[in-house]
Amino acid sequence: MRAYDIIKKKRDGQKLTQEEIHSIVMGFVDGSVPDYQMSAFLMAVFFNSMDEEETYWLTECMRTSGDVIDLKGIEGFTVDKHSTGGVGDKTTLVLGPVLAALGLKVAKMSGRGLGHTGGTIDKLEAIKGFSCELSTEDFIKNVNKVGVVVVGQTGNLVPADKKIYALRDVTATVDSIPLIAASIMSKKLAVANKGLVLDVKVGSGAFMKNLEDAKKLAELMVKIGKQAGRKVTAVLTNMDEPLGEMIGNACEVIEAIETLKNKGPESFTTLIKALAAEALALNTNLSHEEAEKKVCEVLQNGKAYEKLLEMVKVQGGDTSMIEDYSKLPSAQSVDLKADKDGYISNIQCEEVGLAAMMLGAGRETKDSVIDMGVGLKLVKHVGDKVSAGDVIAELYVNTSKDNSKAIARLKSAIEIVPEKVTAQKLILGIVK
Ligand code: URA
Repeated sequence: MRAYDIIKKKRDGQKLTQEEIHSIVMGFVDGSVPDYQMSAFLMAVFFNSMDEEETYWLTECMRTSGDVIDLKGIEGFTVDKHSTGGVGDKTTLVLGPVLAALGLKVAKMSGRGLGHTGGTIDKLEAIKGFSCELSTEDFIKNVNKVGVVVVGQTGNLVPADKKIYALRDVTATVDSIPLIAASIMSKKLAVANKGLVLDVKVGSGAFMKNLEDAKKLAELMVKIGKQAGRKVTAVLTNMDEPLGEMIGNACEVIEAIETLKNKGPESFTTLIKALAAEALALNTNLSHEEAEKKVCEVLQNGKAYEKLLEMVKVQGGDTSMIEDYSKLPSAQSVDLKADKDGYISNIQCEEVGLAAMMLGAGRETKDSVIDMGVGLKLVKHVGDKVSAGDVIAELYVNTSKDNSKAIARLKSAIEIVPEKVTAQKLILGIVK
């Protein structure tokens, strides 16, 4: 099968066969299809799209391009979540313990951060001693015992996505719904969880800028997951500003602890409740409202918080840092003040993420070293009224370096307009 013919067929808007998709993808992975042919193929998909069947074949072929993880040995209903956007996203730190407290099993594999997005593993490593490198045996044993364990991604998981994504990134072919769906679902389905909850972000800070496209992506991913025999739901959520208030490593751990104690920011708590309720509903006959009631119970009675302590303990972390988070790494606080009266209209997620990275909370390159104590807190949110001189954000900085560029970046990421602004609601829909 010639790559040329497959590219031409897609260029001319025709449907590909499973064999053709397999041939071009695996040819690219083994090096027999060069970058320039794969780039042309991706651009043809970008313009002519793929139908549901083609997207499923693409997902399946990518999923099996490397290791697949069977999770054999874990008793109960294993569930995973995926979020399509990542500034201030500490969802795993809270959702994992909440789901474990509800009796579900969370065998989570997470990544490190790069650029404007933070990684769950980096955040957890703000806790002294916490290790995300467990043997497979300990991983399974501890998921069975505690209900939630977070480890770093190991092995050769979906190499086809790594190679294809790197090419999409430089050929302006990232924002294609079938390519995004196949990329996300191939990685999720490579680990044999029984259930999956997808958090599909909509808005200026997300891949999907409008609700219609986000719904299309969510519907496609849910169909692919079901076809692969998994129970899947997607929650559509607004992302016109970062999630919660804190961005940074230790400070996001603090926000996660507060949320598990039912004292977290309202918007973040709302998201946790919605995602956890959907995860619980996947394997029960509970309605969303009934499931959400159970989620509220474990947040109120301390059971979810206890699960975080148990998880930190089995992963070697210092639980006294959770009980007294003044022991976590910290930094000098500096206020950022509004320079005019008005309303907050937009907080650009990527820019806020980059400001936090410049403070030292994230990696500019793969080898950058993270400063666990630095970060920032967004004090005001979209829709809030502000007066000149009001504190709109707090930055936690390393005073031994020049932070002026990071401060300026954060300032220009927060827009203030004279007219009243109404904040959008967070949960925009559920796709089953
Ligand atoms: N996240 C992914 O993993 N892949 C995409 O293509 C887009 C977002």
